[in-house]
This record gives sequence, C-alpha cells and structure tokens, in this order.
Amino acid sequence: MKVVLLIASIIFLSACDQKNKYTVSYIERSAPKFIAAENNPGGQTTVANQTQPSFQLPAANLADELKPNFHAGKALANQPWVKAPTVTFARDGLGPVYNARTCLMCHIKGGKGFIPNNNETPVRGTLVRLSKVLEQQDLSVHSELIKQAGVIPHPMYGDQIQGQSVSLAHQLRHSQKPGTIKHDVPPEAYVHINWIEKTFTYPDQHQVSLRKPELDFKYLGYGPLGDDTQFSLRVAPTIHGMGLLGLIAEQDLIALADAKDKNNDGISGRVNQVWDVEKQATVVGRFGLKSNKPSLAMIVGGAFTNDVGITNSLAPKQPCTELQTACLKIPNGNDKQGVELPDNLLELVINFNRDLAPVQRRNSQDVSVLAGRELFYQVGCNQCHNPRFVTQKSDTAPHLSEQVIWPYSDLLLHDMGPELADGRPDYLATGSEWRTAPLWGIGLLHKVNGSKVFLHDGRARSIEEAILWHGGEANQAKAQFIQFEKLDRDDLINFVNSL
Ligand code: HEC
Ligand code: HEC
Repeated sequence: MKVVLLIASIIFLSACDQKNKYTVSYIERSAPKFIAAENNPGGQTTVANQTQPSFQLPAANLADELKPNFHAGKALANQPWVKAPTVTFARDGLGPVYNARTCLMCHIKGGKGFIPNNNETPVRGTLVRLSKVLEQQDLSVHSELIKQAGVIPHPMYGDQIQGQSVSLAHQLRHSQKPGTIKHDVPPEAYVHINWIEKTFTYPDQHQVSLRKPELDFKYLGYGPLGDDTQFSLRVAPTIHGMGLLGLIAEQDLIALADAKDKNNDGISGRVNQVWDVEKQATVVGRFGLKSNKPSLAMIVGGAFTNDVGITNSLAPKQPCTELQTACLKIPNGNDKQGVELPDNLLELVINFNRDLAPVQRRNSQDVSVLAGRELFYQVGCNQCHNPRFVTQKSDTAPHLSEQVIWPYSDLLLHDMGPELADGRPDYLATGSEWRTAPLWGIGLLHKVNGSKVFLHDGRARSIEEAILWHGGEANQAKAQFIQFEKLDRDDLINFVNSL
C-alpha cells in the first residue's frame, strides 16, 4: 500500500512539475536558495544599472538591425502630436479631446506617471476611467458592448475623462481664467484631487501618514456626470518588460490561479477574460491595472486613440461619444485607410513597448536585502508577487524567447479589500480586484524620472505605505508585516527596493 502511495505521489508531483515546472518552487513559503539569475529580471534582455538608470533602453540582446526601428518607435511615442490639418502630415490628428500629446508624457521616461500632491493643479499623467453601473436589465441590451469593452461607457463622456481639447479656446486657457471662455469643443473636465490623510500606528508605536484621493471635477464640459457613474483613478504604470510579460504562457497564469482558494491560504488569484479585437475571441487578460487588455497591441492601439486622440486600425473611432457632436465634426488627420496612424507606424510603437528592457538588480547580496528576501517568502508576498516565469518561444521576437524572467507578479486579479476598491468592475474583475503590480524596477522609479508613487492611484509615497494599504486577500501578509520589528520591516522594504 505504502509503495502504491509513494508511486502515486511521485507521479502526482511530477505531473505538478510538468504543469508549472518553472514557478512551482517559488510559490513556497520559504525562500529558495538565491541564484545569480535573480539579478537579471529580464533574463538576457536585462540592461546594466547606471548612475542615471533608464527604463527607455532596448533589450540588451536586441539585434542591431532592429535598433533603428526601436528608436523610430520611441520617437513616435515621445514627440508631440499636433492638431489636424497641418503640414506635418505624419504627426497630425491629435484629439479632438485627449489626455496628453505623447505617450511618454504619462509614462515619463518609461517610468511611472505623476500625480499632483495638492488640489491646485489638475492631473495630467493620470487617467480617470468612468462607466455606468451595470443593472441586471442592462445585460441583454448591452451584452455585446460589455463583451467588447468590459464596461458600459458613460453615454456622454465615454469611458475616460479627457482633460484637454484641440479647441483654440482651450489651448489659450493658461492665459485665461478657466471657465470664462466658451469652448467649441470643451475638454471633458479638469480633474483635481483632494488628499485625505490619516495616521497609521504600528504596535511598536511607530507612525506613518497614509493619504487617500478624493476626486474633484472642475468645469465639466458636457453637463453633470450623474449619480450612477463609477470612477477609477489610475496613475500611468511603468512600461519596461512588456514584451516578456506578453510571452508568459496562458497555462502558466491559469496554473497560478486559485479562484476558489482550494489550498485555503486566503489567496485566490483569478484570471480576467477579455475581448481581443485582433483574434475576435475572448482570451486571458494580462495588461492594464485590472488585466483588462489581452495584448500589447490592444493596449497601445487603445492608448493612441483614447489618451492621445490618434485613431488606428485597432481603435478606429475618434475619442468622442455620439452625443459629443461638435467633437465628431472637427477635421481629423485620417489617411486613405480612414485612420490617423497607419499600421506600420502603430507596429513601430508596439515593438518599442515590447522591447523596453528591465534593469539589473542592485545590492542583492546585502545582508539586509537577503534577510528581507526570506521575509518576502515567509509572509507570502510571493503568493501574488510571483517571482519567476520562463517566457514562451517566439519566432517574431527571438530576443524575448525562452527567457527566465523575474517580474514579481502573477498578472492575476486579487481582491485587495474595501480601502483599495474603486468599485468599478471591468470584464470579470470586480470593483475591489486589481492585477498584482509587477515589482521589477520598483526601487529605481524615483531615480528614473523623479516620480515615486505606488498603487493604482498613486496614493502611496513609499513601499511601506503601499504595503500598509494592502487588504482583502493580502490581509494575512500585511498583518505579519505589521507585527515585525522595525528592523525586519526595513529588511523587507530593502529587498523590494533592490528589485
Ligand atoms: C494620460 C496618461 C497616459 C497616456 C498619454 C498614455 N498612457 Fe499608457 N497607461 C496609462 C495608464 C493610467 C495605464 C493603466 C491603464 C489601466 O489599467 O486602466 C496605462 C497602461 C499602459 C500600458 C500597460 C502597462 C501594463 O503594465 O499593463 C502600456 C503598454 C501603455 N500604457 C502604453 C502606452 C502607449 C504606447 C501610449 C501612447 C500611445 C500611452 N500608453 C499613453 C496612462 C497613459
Ligand atoms: C493577495 C495578493 C498580494 C499579496 C499577498 C501581496 N501583494 Fe502587493 N500588490 C498586490 C496587488 C493586487 C497590488 C496592486 C494594488 C493596487 O494597485 O491598488 C500590489 C501592489 C504592491 C506594491 C505597489 C507596486 C506599485 O508599483 O505600485 C508593492 C510595493 C507591493 N504590492 C508589495 C508587497 C509586499 C512587500 C507584500 C508582502 C508583505 C505584498 N505586496 C503582498 C497583491 C498582493
């Protein structure tokens, strides 16, 4: 009998190994032995850390002949778009309403966006998404829409607030008192933030101030938003290593999911299922803060149209809703295919995003960092911030193929509790679920562009604050962190900063 059991368990274990052979050792509660590969979060794509670290470099192993394309894509993501029509035919079509003139005005130098610290200036590098509450009776009316968009957009404002417009009156706004000039196409709103501060006290009496944002819309351009509108404030995340994340096998993500929490550890990652326009199919979502986008192509195409107002074959409709009639009438920068950005240029920007390299870790052998590494596994941060994957084979991007990568995310949705909830569902993601934020490069954020804000809405100003906001499925991990002595808390934070 014993022998049978033993054989059965060997078969079972090796089946598990087969299923998820690269990640299985890293979801244990004790840290595996440190290996040198951990220093290179992007495998062979990893670039060296420099005095002025950069999230804008191409993969270290990118073939020389692909580098000009990388730089062309970067230029398209970095140089301002202008209003149509102009002589600079290739760069017009901005807006009519938009959030920023370039991608990298939000993803500054490839790093995180900025969020104002006070109510005086409106947000720029930060988005407000919005949608209507889904009532049961809406399901049949909107089923196709929800299948395609994940949410019911606001009928007047669409699914995000665009705070800028190409209207001359708006462009002159900085010389006028806002609200005093009549806009032909008004920007949708200026979003300001009130920060509500509270103090958190550890059992050892050490105190930390935590702040939470409250939205303050000024100068709504198209009338009231209505009570049943849901909002979600989102600061631009980092964009390095995207191509590597895109190459994690769907089975690997599904293998990490534990929707019903069968292993009873309080943590139940779920996959989001989202609509892929290119494939005309529902697939596992992995990009976006609620894993609400299926592919890099879809998030870049969507960002061009919705954030910059540059339409393309993946998101061909101007960022105006049917009710914004003046917006729809403004001249566009369309080419013969009826969009503002031809496919070859869109591809350059997609590939620029794909090839942005993660940066080497620092100080991984420090005594404190190594101690923090132990604690990271011990309290179960790794249960969501999954350390390691191996990317799939890729013929189109051989440099990203079969790389051992260390993103510290499972790309799954986790219920993070009421404090972090935005109350805005997106496809299968509920109003309190978020995708585990990848932690690679996190310790370099401040050096890269001066921004140092964490969590979806940028409320946390340090790693410590970010941890203290964790709730829901992360409650147990946080509770252990809080009980630690200050020195241990610092070790854990030093480890995260070394990633
Ligand atoms: C107004 C600021 C803003 C602009 C402009 C902007 N983005 Fe973003 N970007 C964001 C935010 C916020 C998110 C998170 C979106 C979400 O989950 O709702 C995001 C998400 C992304 C992601 C996914 C990151 C991840 O971890 O899944 C990529 C890639 C990206 N943007 C690329 C681009 C590109 C390319 C452009 C230009 C065409 C662009 N963005 C323009 C704010 C911006
Ligand atoms: C149940 C899953 C889960 C566990 C356990 C967990 N996290 Fe997270 N973590 C998340 C999710 C989801 C987010 C994104 C939340 C958001 O944006 O509001 C996040 C965000 C973060 C961030 C902010 C990253 C950024 O760039 O904004 C840090 C830092 C972080 N976690 C560290 C930790 C540490 C350290 C631990 C262990 C003490 C831990 N987490 C445990 C799921 C988890």
